[in-house]
Amino acid sequence: MNCLVRILLPFMLISSNLYSQNNLSLSSPSGNFAFSFILQDGVPSYQLSFKNLPVIEDSKLGLVAGSVDFSRNLTLKNFETSSFNETWEPVWGEVKEILNNYNELRVTLQTNDSKPKHFSVVFRLFDDGLGFRYEFPQQEHLSYFTVLNEITQFTLTANHIAFWIPGDFDSNEYIYTKSRIDEINTNSGHEYNEISLKTIPDSDVVQTPLMLKSDTGLYINIHEAALVNFPVMQLNVDKQNFVLSSLLVPDAVGVKAHLQTPCKSPWRTILVSDDARDILASKTILNLNDPSKIEDPSWIKPQKYIGIWWELHIGKSSWNYADISNIKLENIDYDTVKSNGRHGATTERTKYYIDFASEHGFDGVLIEGWNTGWEDWYGNWKEEVFDFVTPYPDFDLEYLADYAASKNVKLIMHHETSGSVTNYERRLEAAFNLMKKFGYETVKTGYVGRIIPRGEHHDGQWMTDHFIRVVEKAAQYKIMVNSHESSRPTGLHRTYPNWLSSEAARGNEFNAWSKGNPPSHETILPFTRLMGGPMDYTPGIFKLKLNQYKKDENFSVKTTLCKQLALYVTMYSPLQMAADLPENYLLFPDAFNFIKDVAVDWDDTKILFAEPGEYLAIARKAKNLDDWFVGAITAEKEKSLIIDLDFLTPGINYEATIYTDKKHASYLGTADAYGITKRVVTSTDNISFRMVPGGGAAISLKPVK
Ligand code: NOJ
Ligand code: CA
Repeated sequence: MNCLVRILLPFMLISSNLYSQNNLSLSSPSGNFAFSFILQDGVPSYQLSFKNLPVIEDSKLGLVAGSVDFSRNLTLKNFETSSFNETWEPVWGEVKEILNNYNELRVTLQTNDSKPKHFSVVFRLFDDGLGFRYEFPQQEHLSYFTVLNEITQFTLTANHIAFWIPGDFDSNEYIYTKSRIDEINTNSGHEYNEISLKTIPDSDVVQTPLMLKSDTGLYINIHEAALVNFPVMQLNVDKQNFVLSSLLVPDAVGVKAHLQTPCKSPWRTILVSDDARDILASKTILNLNDPSKIEDPSWIKPQKYIGIWWELHIGKSSWNYADISNIKLENIDYDTVKSNGRHGATTERTKYYIDFASEHGFDGVLIEGWNTGWEDWYGNWKEEVFDFVTPYPDFDLEYLADYAASKNVKLIMHHETSGSVTNYERRLEAAFNLMKKFGYETVKTGYVGRIIPRGEHHDGQWMTDHFIRVVEKAAQYKIMVNSHESSRPTGLHRTYPNWLSSEAARGNEFNAWSKGNPPSHETILPFTRLMGGPMDYTPGIFKLKLNQYKKDENFSVKTTLCKQLALYVTMYSPLQMAADLPENYLLFPDAFNFIKDVAVDWDDTKILFAEPGEYLAIARKAKNLDDWFVGAITAEKEKSLIIDLDFLTPGINYEATIYTDKKHASYLGTADAYGITKRVVTSTDNISFRMVPGGGAAISLKPVK
């Protein structure tokens, strides 16, 4: 390309052949980000700066596709720029309207051989960060190919603080470590024995979303958007040079992805701000996903649910019906075998939950352990475990369907696959047909254990495709999905709004049977796991000391009761569980009111205070109402906050109900000590409170009638 200088508003594009370098620049709509693409001696790279401060220094781009190296020896074929500005409405979400505004640069690069192949790198620069992906159009000399490696780098400017979990091809249920980049070592100083299935590739690999903080006060978040037909990206850490590079999860034959043109990679995302609140408010990951594929989403409903669940995790009852071992599942005659007397999902117990849901206004009841197979479900890498259609003899599917319908409660189906995904796919239609027959509109899926097809990983391309096959099939049946042990989300709930929530991180369940989640955990998750989408964290535990269930003294939920309330606001999901046993809620009826009141779908969200690993306060406006809910949480340290109520509609009186930790409360001691005060307030008032170690506060604000 000839020496050329063009100034186009809002882009500045400079291209020059001096030293065989091409340099293309782009700025974000407000001009706070500057981006350059560089092709130097055939090697593509990029740089990013925010408010004139470098964020990403020269970092390589490209992929190795079979024998074709799309990261070197390339020439610039052409480039295009464009701008985009639209506002769209999510089916459900944290806000009513989302602005999607970016400047785009599309660079097409070509190999230098006798059969040239080309691909494009598409960069979208928003006012809160950058997304880019690789696109391989249909072309003469490139059809099928395998991805052997992705070359993408993120070269950081210094030894930032990182909030990380170990790279792992099968699990993301880890506690976060906060350390400098050069201190990352996933092998030493950590006990990971609570993770049942671990596939840690190397001591220098971490997962995304990765949250970083620079000493200059920049917050940087690295993740991906629209993970479709591609493996999960994890990050290899070069601790000397602070270079993170893409490590794609391999498949059973050691390849990263099998592709055919036309095809594209997911977006790689870098969000940046000097205010941590902007990271949480960012909609860039959603914007990089395709619009909803579901034309009529009227059947998709945000919901609050209870379920036969926590009692299983604390060992009060069991998933399995009988205590038998050493017998093949297909040889068990459930009609003659004796119940162990502890089976949780009985008709009677389910009725009790349905009655409770109906009385207290919950939409759904989840029942785990309703179906045969739990006697030998885990650890043996078995193909045939569950059939997803046969109930245990003490669970009357038909009667309970009628009973739930008579009480206006929806039952939530549970499909634990035990990792045998081939088996699940074979039986999926039958399972969904059964659900529809008995009025179940939501399914919770689970993938505990090693994957079948054997050799595949939870985070590989095959499983990415599986998770999407399930939500697409579910959409055909008008079924909503909550997936556990799936790969962490990348904003696909925009495209498939029936994918209501997923777990894909260390949830509250770990507090039931492991050393638990430290108080900082819930202040880090919004900056990491939740950047990709809602989490089914299952909050709402009121009986926090688990020795009340004859468990060891050490077992406890490491929060105060008020913090459990606040999590309904700080841990965003359109599907929220009240996870404790119904009888425990009756012990704290006034605190329970907050869980009953709190909304699950929102018109607006204000991130009031945020610092990863320390504290968080969020206010949200309930959908189609003028009710606001505030959740505030702290980590190990106590924290006082003053909440300005300027988000309220001016001139209206609101009744504020304020749930706060008692002075002497602490996650280590009296965790369930709280107080409730009521006040009439307006938008010019403020509310101040103190959160104790591991504590929180919750506030509801409703117009006075
Ligand atoms: C792990 C899931 O996260 C949990 O919610 C479920 O109860 C168990 N697997 C059993 O399926
Ligand atoms: Ca889990």
